[in-house]
Amino acid sequence: MKILITGATSGIGHELALRYAKEGHDVIACGRNETKLSQLQQLHSSIQPLCFDLTDYENYPEWEEGKTLDLVIFNAGDCEYIDDLLDFDAKKFERVININLISIGYGLQTWLKHIKTGGRVALVSSSAGLLPLPRAEAYGASKAAVTYLGKTLAVRLTDMNIHVSVVHPGFVKTPLTDKNTFDMPMIITTEKAAEKITTGLAKGKAEINFPTLFVFIMKCLRFLPSSTWNRLATKMEQ
Ligand SMILES: NC(=O)c1ccc[n+]([C@@H]2O[C@H](COP(=O)([O-])OP(=O)(O)OC[C@H]3O[C@@H](n4cnc5c(N)ncnc54)[C@H](OP(=O)(O)O)[C@@H]3O)[C@@H](O)[C@H]2O)c1
Repeated sequence: MKILITGATSGIGHELALRYAKEGHDVIACGRNETKLSQLQQLHSSIQPLCFDLTDYENYPEWEEGKTLDLVIFNAGDCEYIDDLLDFDAKKFERVININLISIGYGLQTWLKHIKTGGRVALVSSSAGLLPLPRAEAYGASKAAVTYLGKTLAVRLTDMNIHVSVVHPGFVKTPLTDKNTFDMPMIITTEKAAEKITTGLAKGKAEINFPTLFVFIMKCLRFLPSSTWNRLATKMEQ
């Protein structure tokens, strides 16, 4: 397969790129940091780097006509928390929405028409988008939108024989979560996360949730009355 992965220079994306390359697939690894990309390329000859900033929308590399893809994994993302709600940082909000959501729109504009019939788009969302969490006004909103985007893409792409998977990870140990100062229950390694994602994609799953119990609990909590959840969530912030 020819697989394009965004955010391949770190964490989950790095592990996915290596895993797919080792399985014998051709991997186009997207990243914005040339040094990290060439270090990744040195790890496996099937990894081809594509260096650009996903939020620099005017300067996406042109895609060669006739070059097809079997799988595009929109994985790149960032998390910044809104600490002071009353001094709402709209620039921070914009940065998070840009990389986590809007860049996927530009990626779809660039690559969707090059995905082969029978191919697949995977969107790495987050379990954080399933519930309103304190300080996640930007991150959670972006990920809830990514989930919606994936599910709504599936409605029309199915008829075109392009499949869609939405991934909801719980906590995974990466540079993104290394910044967190709170407890991260059921945290898993990037190796485990990549295994869950590649297995789920190979099985053609529309939704890939892991750790299963963690996401199940998150989904159950959605049934609480919002007044009860808001009280619980406020306690989490303290
Ligand atoms: N870790 C978790 O617990 C967790 C849980 C749920 C969902 N997720 C999601 O999983 C995905 C991967 O996260 P991760 O934990 O592996 O994070 P990570 O280690 O920080 O990796 C993020 C990747 O995105 C790239 N990226 C960020 N901004 C970019 C930009 N403007 N242009 C190009 N590339 C950019 C980073 O590039 P640089 O190396 O140049 O920074 C890096 O390769 C994200 O969408 C995240 O929201 C993670």
